[in-house]
Amino acid sequence: LASTEVDLSAVEEGQSIVVKWRGKPVFIRHRTAEEIEAAQAVNLDDLVDPQTDGDRVQKDEWLIMVGVCTHLGCIPLGNKDGEPKGDFGGWFCPCHGSHYDTSGRIRKGPAPKNLGVPEYAFIDESVVKIG
Ligand code: FES
Repeated sequence: LASTEVDLSAVEEGQSIVVKWRGKPVFIRHRTAEEIEAAQAVNLDDLVDPQTDGDRVQKDEWLIMVGVCTHLGCIPLGNKDGEPKGDFGGWFCPCHGSHYDTSGRIRKGPAPKNLGVPEYAFIDESVVKIG
């Protein structure tokens, strides 16, 4: 399947889901106000792969990205039960210790790039089409 439609209406603020798209996990996180604020406050000079949060999201509250570490392809661990992962409150890849922030940008560790953002579009208020 080239694209997949996901209904986000049941995903509450602070929750994440993982969907499969083209054989890869796609992380969809309903970000909290604090996560959005942290993501927007980052100075581009502090980034290995400089991208603003606005370059990475279409709607501030929905972060959608391919859940494959850009180092060697492990699946990073995300915030679970309100427990953020890694030093930057986003995702942590346990394979070799890459830390991603609340925008999925690489902040520490060997990964060279931010977590990828797939092509997607909101087809209505709560349904997103990925791919
Ligand atoms: Fe993620 Fe190496 S594969 S840090």
